[in-house]
Parts: sequence; C-alpha cells; structure tokens
Amino acid sequence: MLGSSLFIISSSILVTIMSIVNLLGLVMSGYMEMSGNNKQYAKFFDANASNISKNDEEHKLPSRNGMLVFYTPAFIVGLVAFTVFPHHDTRFVMVIYVLTIHFLKRILEVLFVHKFSGSMMLNAAITIGLSYALSTATMIYDQYLSQESPEPSIDLKYVGLGIFLIGITGNFYHHYILSNLRKKGDKEYKIPKGGLFDLVICAHYFFEIVEFIGVSCISQTISSFCITLGTILLLLGRSHATRKWYVMKFGGKFHKDIKAVIPYIF
Ligand SMILES: NC(=O)c1ccc[n+]([C@@H]2O[C@H](COP(=O)([O-])OP(=O)(O)OC[C@H]3O[C@@H](n4cnc5c(N)ncnc54)[C@H](OP(=O)(O)O)[C@@H]3O)[C@@H](O)[C@H]2O)c1
Repeated sequence: MLGSSLFIISSSILVTIMSIVNLLGLVMSGYMEMSGNNKQYAKFFDANASNISKNDEEHKLPSRNGMLVFYTPAFIVGLVAFTVFPHHDTRFVMVIYVLTIHFLKRILEVLFVHKFSGSMMLNAAITIGLSYALSTATMIYDQYLSQESPEPSIDLKYVGLGIFLIGITGNFYHHYILSNLRKKGDKEYKIPKGGLFDLVICAHYFFEIVEFIGVSCISQTISSFCITLGTILLLLGRSHATRKWYVMKFGGKFHKDIKAVIPYIF
C-alpha cells in the first residue's frame, strides 16, 4: 500500500534485473571501500604499487582524463534519451534533465574546477564510467516505461527538485573549497576547512547523497530508489576510508570530532 503510494511500480523484468545488478554492484563496492580495498584513483591510487606491471604502466591515465572517462558515457546516455524517447510526461523530462545536468556539471568541474595531482588505471576509469552509464540508462528507461503506470498518490517530484538543487549546489560549493586548497601545479593534500568540512571530511559526498535523494523523489521509481540506496552505501564506504586516510596522513592535526560524511553520526 505504502509502496504504491510512493513508487511507480515497474512490471519490466529487465528493469528489475538491472536495478538488482546496480544495487549489488554498488553495495559490493561500498563494502570493498570500507574494508580497505579501495578503487584506485585520487588519494587511493598507489603509483608505486608492486602489482603495477610495465603493461599496466602503459594503461595509466592522468586523473583529469580518467574522470572524463567516468562521466562522459553517462552524460551521452542523458543526451541520447532526449532524442530517443518521443512522448514525455513532466516527471520523465525532469528525470532526464537532472541526470544530464548532474553529469554535465561533473564534466565542467573536471575541466575547469578540480586541481588533480595524480593518475588512475584505465580499467578502473572504464569500469566506473560504464557503471554510471548503466545506472543512468536504467533510471531513464524505467521512467520511460513508468509513464504507462498509475502515478503514486503522494507526489514528491517538486520536493525532489528542491532537494536536488540543494544537493548539486552544496556539492559544487565543496568542490570549489577543495580546489582552492591548491595553487596551480600544486599536488599537496591539505585538510579542507569551511562549509560542512568543519563537521565531515567528505562534505562533497554528503551533498552528492542529498542530490541522489532528490533524484529518487523526482523519479519515484524502484530503480532510482535502489541506485540511490547503493550510492549512499558506496559513499559511506569511501568516506570511511577517506577519513582513515586523513587520520593516518595528518595524525593529531586532524580533529577527531570530524566525522566521515554524516554530521555528528558517521
Ligand atoms: N555517485 C557515485 O557513485 C560516486 C562515487 C564517488 C564519488 N562521487 C562524487 O564524485 C565527486 C568527486 O569525488 P572524488 O571521490 O573524485 O573526490 P575527491 O577524491 O575528494 O577529489 C575531488 C578533487 O579534490 C581534490 N582533493 C581532494 N582532497 C583534497 C585535499 N585534501 N587537498 C587538496 N585537494 C584535494 C582531488 O585531487 P586529487 O585527484 O589529487 O586527489 C580532486 O581534484 C564527488 O562529488 C563525489 O560525491 C560519486
């Protein structure tokens, strides 16, 4: 009862399978991050790792290029959706817009805001890029099919849009703070301060979570709920590992009351 008040239930087996695959993949990644088996990029990329062979060396990318591989396929999925699906209702159009804007913002930040220090492996970039593209395609396709289903009795799409806008703005603001920690060409890591960084070390992840909750509320499909839940668990894992990294790197200079991602809680 509550389910059909909140969610547009898909009858597609394909969407159900894709939602489960996305959720399991994200849960597994979150678990690996939590247990120290971190995705090899940014702070966690170990350029001197003994298991990097000469062949791997040839498949190393500067972080900026790797990040473009992360985000461009999902952005293209969003663009294609505008042209492929002809009859749209308001909710469907909103979902395509917010997902496309999310990845466009990411690409623009990679090009013009972030100051990267390192590299990543091409295979890590491709895996992450494909997973973003797959989850974006799942959410959009589910939304497309859901236009035939009855609307949920509780309509959250405009509340969701507000939550999404808070999330995307907060995420950008904290990326801007991170970028200002470095001068051009600088590769040092510093302890970020200001905004929500005074409470959590992954303030940008916190607002990413807010953004995804917004997308889920706009969409009100089970697939977007699964992907949001998986993303939250992944970011809890990655932020836990990040906090541990700061404690190891900065020792006593890192204030122990600063949590990983949820203020005062986690
Ligand atoms: N939806 C998902 O599944 C998912 C998963 C992960 C991340 N994300 C989102 O993607 C965005 C980027 O995430 P990310 O993991 O790439 O972020 P990140 O590792 O924190 O890096 C973001 C940028 O800030 C720089 N930076 C980070 N910490 C710094 C410090 N202490 N001092 C100086 N510069 C620092 C990084 O440089 P370096 O490259 O040199 O480290 C990079 O340029 C976030 O908004 C996050 O929420 C989404």
